Amino acid sequence: MLKLKKGVLLIDQHDKNYMYGGKFGGNFIPETLKKPIEDLTNLFGKLRYDNNFIKERDYYFKNYVGAPTPFIKLENLTKYLGGAQVYAKVVSKANGGAHKIYNAVVHALICKRAGKKYIVGDTGAGYAGKMLSMAAKKFGLKCKIFMGAKDIKRQKPNCEAMRKNGAEIVPVYSGSQTLVDAVSECMRYWVSNCDTTHMAVGSTVGPNIFIKICAWSTAQISRELIVQFKEEFGGVPKKLKLINCVGGGSSAAGFWNEFIDYNKSQVELIGVEAGGPKNSKLHAAPLTFGSKIGILHGAAQYVIQDKDGQIGKTSSISAGLDYPGISPLHCFLKDTKRARYTSASDEESLQAYKLVSELEDLSPSLEPSHAFAEAIKITPKLSKDTVICVNSCGDAKKDRAIITKRLGFFR
Ligand SMILES: Cc1ncc(COP(=O)(O)O)c(C=O)c1O
Repeated sequence: MLKLKKGVLLIDQHDKNYMYGGKFGGNFIPETLKKPIEDLTNLFGKLRYDNNFIKERDYYFKNYVGAPTPFIKLENLTKYLGGAQVYAKVVSKANGGAHKIYNAVVHALICKRAGKKYIVGDTGAGYAGKMLSMAAKKFGLKCKIFMGAKDIKRQKPNCEAMRKNGAEIVPVYSGSQTLVDAVSECMRYWVSNCDTTHMAVGSTVGPNIFIKICAWSTAQISRELIVQFKEEFGGVPKKLKLINCVGGGSSAAGFWNEFIDYNKSQVELIGVEAGGPKNSKLHAAPLTFGSKIGILHGAAQYVIQDKDGQIGKTSSISAGLDYPGISPLHCFLKDTKRARYTSASDEESLQAYKLVSELEDLSPSLEPSHAFAEAIKITPKLSKDTVICVNSCGDAKKDRAIITKRLGFFR
């Protein structure tokens, strides 16, 4: 079994080939990308320990993102379910409405340090694109966003926001016309424009450096949570479960970062993938359903594939989770057994949205509604001294049309 090294940051657990546990991640990139990836690796390698850069990051996290985001007890849901105490880290209150703002701000700051004026990125649910367009506007960069044509149709509000911020949306018509194709097309564009343009990958996926930058950025969530646990309980609860949805894996990586070294009997990490429509063979849950290792977007990972090793089809009501691969960090956490992964179906996440938005002043997007579905499942079976914390990492406004169509209302 793979081993997690205690006291070593999760993003630094790789070997000299940037492989986590010798199996996941790495840099499987074309020759033409070697130099820009090496330059970015060297630049970020310095910046992440540069006090001025850290100060700048913290300044914008506080004064632009709005850190810290709230940590609240869901009293009505707790009472309704019986069993464990249910809390939410309301990351959707961050500027823009989701955790993607942390990665976007850090990439924009890196882009400026690299002396580049153009920034490009991918998006699925539209939040990574919206946040990058916000950060680009804030720091005077020109921004291009690659987005699958299917996602452009189903996530209209975020597309409107991107355009309002002056970003160009490049529709991607290849393949499934979703996130996987948007990332591929964005990388293709970067190969020919890397001299003038910085690329931001929207999750903890892609060649190693993008995983590192993204997880380093979203780690803000768990740094805040440690302080908030101290204020609420006097420290990290003795029986704690941290539940997060997992698409590429950036919000979960950030939500768990400060808790990786805790014993799993004290802090259980639970990742919830997209189980897809009920009665369908399609899903976007490579860890739950035992997909094999393959290479996607420059990294080795568990990935949904057919018998010939071609990337397989996915389906999820949630554009943000609709991705055939998964961060190498999460593959590593699964193999080391530090985290447990499960899935929720489209219908379960809709029902979770219904219950949470009915009982609480909270409107989680379809991605975190997957995490709430798992919380709703396990809470009644747990003791009252157990604390469950769900990362409510996105606001549902972008899903208004889908939710209204499926449930007949929107809250
Ligand atoms: C609100 C929200 N949550 C979760 C995700 C899934 O991505 P990740 O697993 O990288 O957090 C997305 C992706 O777009 C998202 O917009």
